[in-house]
Amino acid sequence: MTMRIFVPMDAAALSVGAGPVAAAVRAEIAARKLDAKLVRNGSRGLLWLEPLLEIETPEGRIGYGPVTASDVKSIFDAGPNGDHPLKVGLVEAIPYLAKQQRLTFARCGITDPISMEDYEAHGGLTGLRRALEMAPAAIVQAVTDSGLRGRGGAGFPTGIKWKTVLATESAQKYIVCNADEGDSGTFSDRLIMEGDPFALIEGMAIAGVAVGATKGYVYIRSEYPHAFRQMTRAIEIARVKNLLGTNILGSNRIFDMEARLGAGAYICGEETSLLESLEGRRGQIRFKPPLPAIEGLFGKPTVVNNLVSLASVPIILAEGAAYYKDFGMGRSRGTMPIQLAGNIKRGGLIERAFGLTLRELIYDYGGGTYSGRPVRAVQVGGPLGAYWPTHLFDVPLDYEAFAAKGGMVGHGGIVVFDDTVDLAKQARFAFHFCAIESCGKCTPCRIGSQRGAETVDKIMRGERVVENIDVVRDLCETMRDGSLCALGGLTPMPVMSAMEHFPEDFDRSPARAAAAE
Ligand SMILES: Cc1cc2nc3c(=O)[nH]c(=O)nc-3n(C[C@H](O)[C@H](O)[C@H](O)COP(=O)(O)O)c2cc1C
Ligand code: SF4
Repeated sequence: MTMRIFVPMDAAALSVGAGPVAAAVRAEIAARKLDAKLVRNGSRGLLWLEPLLEIETPEGRIGYGPVTASDVKSIFDAGPNGDHPLKVGLVEAIPYLAKQQRLTFARCGITDPISMEDYEAHGGLTGLRRALEMAPAAIVQAVTDSGLRGRGGAGFPTGIKWKTVLATESAQKYIVCNADEGDSGTFSDRLIMEGDPFALIEGMAIAGVAVGATKGYVYIRSEYPHAFRQMTRAIEIARVKNLLGTNILGSNRIFDMEARLGAGAYICGEETSLLESLEGRRGQIRFKPPLPAIEGLFGKPTVVNNLVSLASVPIILAEGAAYYKDFGMGRSRGTMPIQLAGNIKRGGLIERAFGLTLRELIYDYGGGTYSGRPVRAVQVGGPLGAYWPTHLFDVPLDYEAFAAKGGMVGHGGIVVFDDTVDLAKQARFAFHFCAIESCGKCTPCRIGSQRGAETVDKIMRGERVVENIDVVRDLCETMRDGSLCALGGLTPMPVMSAMEHFPEDFDRSPARAAAAE
């Protein structure tokens, strides 16, 4: 039997040398005249092991990582049964992976991402086949019953959004996938696009059948050229295989989609700016109402969902709403792909049911900081998320529990900082980020963020610290209450959490400076 060897073509793996590793594997296969095939899979999400080379054996896939091209010959010499310093054993048994609950990412890193046969062999298309036998309202009901909430940040119930689009009469409706993935430390959308693109296509087709939309767009972050290429290729294959087109899976139903490259601005991830950008204009917020579900792309009813939300739909339809809902806690149902980044020893993607803690994620999975120094802070939920100190690490990962402590789950990104972090600098960065990414439509955000950065500068120079901290608080209140969208409205979250939890970093008074010397 042909032996399969896997080397990811995922951007994170490529960035650390997966390309030369793959070339070396090909050369060894040829030189040794082996009956073996190289598969360019997606990443398993164990990023600290990339490039992760896997050899298929009857017992399972044996992994080696992180591998360089010069290691390949010795790996072949040793063979999967022999010893090798980079051998990590059975990949599925690595605790980081074994302890996960992979529903949405079940195939990621396992299958050949652009093989429809492999996709089907691993459970693909079951959800769409079920959906095609159901009435549209029943599909929407299943998504509602599953408890799925938007994984893009706001956590809005997906089924309710779909219900609105289904109920809105229109000859044309659209499904728009938000794959702008602008949050710091996040990469779950990218992993799916590069590692299991048919899951998104299937999820979008189900959404289309459910709400009566015949056309979809996936709006992809401009810094994701590999994902864009992979999605475009997968869409072409899906058309040939009748997963897309005028007769999807022989059902006479119509659904087609296109990939579009984003405009390169954080605000283009906000759904109304995204729609402006898709229509060819500058990414700027639209007033709401009307909601995109009523008047969205080109003025037509539109489902705008995050990529992970849409890619989670096939498993819900395949296994049933109750199966999915069984995972999680409170009103946070199902699983969440958490992305560990920043100063962390073992960065990567961890899909688990809601309810686990930051402590478990950062220490058990992540292994603490990469620098080896103590963890001092984490920022959860992207650049608009709160900075939390270690005493909040036992709050369960749950939309409501996080909100009750002044934080947010967002898109599931966790950025870790060690004890060398300066939270005043981070607060300044939050204002600065907002200033450069602001769409400019409303004054609290456009001007407030600029004044905020200047005021934190004064604090950091030790100028009238107490008064300027009051000015920052005042500005934050104005931005929170007066901004038109969450970019301006949530920038106070990182700023205020930094001031609340790390007040010592804002004390730049001459007395403290003297004490520190
Ligand atoms: C400034 C800003 C940036 C955003 N960026 C993203 C993004 O990159 N990806 C995303 O899915 N949602 C992003 N959102 C949220 C979207 O506006 C929207 O809520 C989401 O696409 C809805 O999908 P969901 O319900 O599946 O989460 C952003 C929101 C704001 C205010
Ligand atoms: S808060 Fe206002 S200026 Fe800032 S991005 Fe949103 S709409 Fe634009």
